[in-house]
Amino acid sequence: MCGIFAYLNYLTPKKREEILEFLVNGLKRLEYRGYDSAGVAIDGPINKDIAIIKKTGKVALLQQEIENRSNELDMSRSLDVHCGLAHTRWATHGVPNEVNSHPHRSDEGNGFVVVHNGIVTNYKEVRVFLQKKGHRFESDTDTEVIAKLVYHFYKEHPDFSFRELVECVVQQLEGAFALCFKSKFFPGECVATRRGSPLLVGIKTATRLATDHIPILYGKEELPPLSPTEPDSSSEHRPHGRTEFPTLPRTGSTSEFEPLEDKQVEYFFASDASAIIEHTNRVIYFEDDDVAAIKNGALSIHRIRRGGDDPHKREITTLKMELQQIMKGNYDFFMQKEIFEQPESVVNTMRGRLNFETGSVYLGGIKDYIPEIKRCRRLMLIGCGTSYHSAIATRQLLEELTELPVMVELASDFLDRTTPVFRDDVCFFISQSGETADTLMALRYCKARGALIIGITNTVGSSISRESHCGVHINAGPEIGVASTKAYTSQFISLVMFALVMSEDRLSLRTRREEIINGLKNLQEQIRQVLKLDSEVKLLAEDLYKKKSLLIMGRGFNYATCLEGALKVKELTYMHSEGIMAGELKHGPLALVDEAMPVMMIIMRDPVYTKCINALQQVAARDGKPIIVCQEGDKETMAFGYRVLEVPRTVDCLQGILTVIPLQLLSFHIAVLKGCNVDCPRNLAKSVTVE
Ligand code: F6R
Repeated sequence: MCGIFAYLNYLTPKKREEILEFLVNGLKRLEYRGYDSAGVAIDGPINKDIAIIKKTGKVALLQQEIENRSNELDMSRSLDVHCGLAHTRWATHGVPNEVNSHPHRSDEGNGFVVVHNGIVTNYKEVRVFLQKKGHRFESDTDTEVIAKLVYHFYKEHPDFSFRELVECVVQQLEGAFALCFKSKFFPGECVATRRGSPLLVGIKTATRLATDHIPILYGKEELPPLSPTEPDSSSEHRPHGRTEFPTLPRTGSTSEFEPLEDKQVEYFFASDASAIIEHTNRVIYFEDDDVAAIKNGALSIHRIRRGGDDPHKREITTLKMELQQIMKGNYDFFMQKEIFEQPESVVNTMRGRLNFETGSVYLGGIKDYIPEIKRCRRLMLIGCGTSYHSAIATRQLLEELTELPVMVELASDFLDRTTPVFRDDVCFFISQSGETADTLMALRYCKARGALIIGITNTVGSSISRESHCGVHINAGPEIGVASTKAYTSQFISLVMFALVMSEDRLSLRTRREEIINGLKNLQEQIRQVLKLDSEVKLLAEDLYKKKSLLIMGRGFNYATCLEGALKVKELTYMHSEGIMAGELKHGPLALVDEAMPVMMIIMRDPVYTKCINALQQVAARDGKPIIVCQEGDKETMAFGYRVLEVPRTVDCLQGILTVIPLQLLSFHIAVLKGCNVDCPRNLAKSVTVE
């Protein structure tokens, strides 16, 4: 949901072409977050005027545009100190075109420019206010008000520092944002802030960093709070429901700062670490309402007010990610690579947690909370899309091994219903990115009601992992393809491991636990075996890619596979697809079945086998030609199939890990055959940081 990237070099001379290369490469790494348009802002060749280059479409088109304009940009000119901004957009307000692309500017002279990820919900009010002050808007975006507002404060308070101006701005914004600013009035400086959208900064120094943290600087406590003043009678206009903007007090001075200082330093701001790792592995994750400013090469982090449990410093952490993890390697697409990484990613999820010899399971992130969890009223599993499906996939096992009621909820619907939540509820928030706005909002909703919050995420330092009381990192490695694949199987395994932890002392469940642990032990090899179906699945895709629809049916432990398979087909191939609970067939969906409608059925030798066969016969009786995913060597079931994919047998509750992979492959191959953009499906973004 938009990617932002900013680069600042201090006393490390860089040619303008190198700076642009850094910015464009940063955007390429973030492109999965949105690819409706892209843009950059750098100091132009004349004075300190800012040059903005934007292009509708993918980053490659922006790169081409930069090349086309290289003559006017004086590319070989070396700059000792420089700040550049870049943005890749997933349109929310305003159609994808160049005017609506970021960076946005304060005025025709490009005095201030800003890149933004998130949504400013009160932008209409702010816009009306600024229009009354004479500002003219050129785009339909919410972001443009931010650029105009900082300029407004600059004109009102010419003595304010860049950071103070940005602090004034964020006081007036509602909604979610990560922002990076640059200004021709403050050359060589950059100010960045976040609330609700992710942002981190990578730090690269010529010598070893002398510190492992940055202290937080606070506004002077005796100063009045930065809230709108009461309207005065002379106020020319008041935006609906809000007061006139105040004359804001100053919140500190640079002499109070205790910045990180180094003679030569480079800073990389980004929406996520994948854009930074090729430059440095030393990063700081910002908290909501941090305002980070770089001036004279020094980074300082400021907050207006002291928060109760704020550690009063931000750690400089070392990223564990490797560059090769975010490259495609020998694959044509990230999604393809990620599907084929699953034999390793599932092992990484279990590494150090499952002892196959002793059968013990150790989840370090939640171990201290297990007694409390065992006493809870119910478990609630909350997520969106694929993450939600991982909850459906494991609900039955959780019910079985914990003997607790388990509710599975779509985060958006959960919030719409203002679902009752109690202090003795345990709420799991499942999210690959750890930034999905609906899931994060649901987390805050449950936290405010006193529930125990457990995060299941793939992104260290993400908002969900930071705001949870405890959690499990699924350790699947970076997932770049917009369609989630390896994160699903790793979320699945994380929840299975949680069920195992909860049942560790249950003698009556010993045999069941042993068979599950044994199943987990064999999973890597079995996934490798399933991946060998690739060419067979490709042939099937050739049969299907011109069809309009694909129904996917199953029940029990494999129902989640149907939902997840259908989601993959929809999002990647733009073909209609529906995951159907086989038990519901006769209650409606059977009407869709005829000889032309492709129907896939997942039929494993588990407790619902006979019921699945009944559904299969109903399909066959309507001239349907079922494509069956079944257990290897199950000739009896295979006999019903028009086409068959055989997967190895594992314990029933893990079978969904093996049955989903042929569907991941199928959606991938259909997308390739249809010429769809596999890694960046239209209209979607990897990290949905707006509600
Ligand atoms: C589908 C897909 C989405 C995400 C959903 C939640 O392939 O990727 O449905 O699963 O947007 O995202 P996270 O897991 O990051 O919260």
